[in-house]
Amino acid sequence: MFRTLEGGTAVRLLDAGSGIGSLTAAFAQRAAADGVSNLEIEAWEIDEKLHGHLSETLEACGTLIRNKGGSFKFALQSDDYILSFDNLLFSGRRTRRPTHAILNPPYKKFSSDSAHRKALRNRGIETANLYSAFVALALQSLEVGGELVAITPRSFCNGPYFRPYRELILATANIVRVHVFESRTHAFKGDEVLQENVIFHLVKGEAQGQVLVTSSEDATFSNVTVKQTPFEQIVLPGDREKILHLATHDETAATSSAMARYHHTLDDVGLAVSTGPVVDFRMRDHLRSVGGAGRAPMVYSHHMERGFIVHPKLDDKKPEFIDINSETRKWLMPSGCYVVIRRLSSKEERRRIVPAIYTPQAAPGPFIGFDNKTNIVHQAKHGMAEAVAKGMAVYLASTFADQWLRRFSGHTQVNAGDLHALRYPDRETLRAWGEGVGAIFPSQREIDELVGGVDVQN
Ligand SMILES: C[S@@+](CC[C@H](N)C(=O)[O-])C[C@H]1O[C@@H](n2cnc3c(N)ncnc32)[C@H](O)[C@@H]1O
Repeated sequence: MFRTLEGGTAVRLLDAGSGIGSLTAAFAQRAAADGVSNLEIEAWEIDEKLHGHLSETLEACGTLIRNKGGSFKFALQSDDYILSFDNLLFSGRRTRRPTHAILNPPYKKFSSDSAHRKALRNRGIETANLYSAFVALALQSLEVGGELVAITPRSFCNGPYFRPYRELILATANIVRVHVFESRTHAFKGDEVLQENVIFHLVKGEAQGQVLVTSSEDATFSNVTVKQTPFEQIVLPGDREKILHLATHDETAATSSAMARYHHTLDDVGLAVSTGPVVDFRMRDHLRSVGGAGRAPMVYSHHMERGFIVHPKLDDKKPEFIDINSETRKWLMPSGCYVVIRRLSSKEERRRIVPAIYTPQAAPGPFIGFDNKTNIVHQAKHGMAEAVAKGMAVYLASTFADQWLRRFSGHTQVNAGDLHALRYPDRETLRAWGEGVGAIFPSQREIDELVGGVDVQN
């Protein structure tokens, strides 16, 4: 992904978390082929067991470059890259900044009071995962005009935790290219990697241009799709969350026109989304198997049946009701019409967004308990007009909405934040769709014809 290395130039490569130096070796091969006359490599690897192999790789890189008449130097850093980064940069040992950085960093969350978090905060970096920390530091250390290529999980593209990291990337670099692996089951089979991964190419200090979004099914890189994407389609104008949308195929006219029509935020349509408030294992003492006065229905995702909440199931082994009392009251929502969305789906499932309509007829009473493994679309923490709820369920059940969500969410989990980031039709459209929904939820085909945005399959 790096641009051509100018023959006869000096190149300083940083490889943070270099393992046995596989990425560095690939880079050195390119540098030798491009005729780089002077290559310096700084490889950081904390695991001493790998140092023998890493040194051998670095020596071999030297041989490659010298055989082409170039000069070569390397430094193997065995300290913690995050903790020692500061010292090195300011102790005068690193007087010149890297021109290139290549990373396949470690992935792991760290806590807010960890030494890593403090060291990063001192450098103005707010992030809680090793991978984003490695990339952010590498980006800081690069010289202006320097290039960075990294393979990391895709999880940074959305969600509030990674927002400062997204902002940092957008403020300091040009995102030149992003490669998306479409199928997590294929790409990293042997590694049992559960996250979807991306490879991206950044150029520090360069103005943001179009982004080349490419994709392949797996790491063989066969059938690569290529799409030059205007930046306004990567980060939607006015999006304060700075979510990165990675559409890998060209939109059909139907999709672009639907995206233009359905551009409203939940706020615009007077609605909001929250995670279901009742964590049932914390409320164990208040859960009941039978309903009655002073009890509210507990709604779980298994109460979803073809677009509606069906409660109670009665054959269910789990308690389906919750006592209304001073301890539970604050977790319950007032009776009304809501849309319930499952939070978890398995990776084999065709759809990510699975919605269902909740109406008070489903389970009478003044309050409802929504389980924490669901998301709830509500209106100021109350229900909404039945037709609006039904129209919202129709939209969320559409193939178009599901595909839109997949552009920015690489998880099988659908969080309230994802639904907040999605865009919606206006309220009148939702109401009109909802008025057409009777006791039976429309079929997928009927929904897709109504919502549009995809070419309906015969
Ligand atoms: C995902 S592996 C990638 C290795 C290599 N870049 C590759 O692509 O084959 C990440 C490497 O980072 C190293 N590592 C983890 N934490 C580190 C730290 N704090 N400082 C330096 N290296 C670290 C690990 O030991 C591991 O070898």
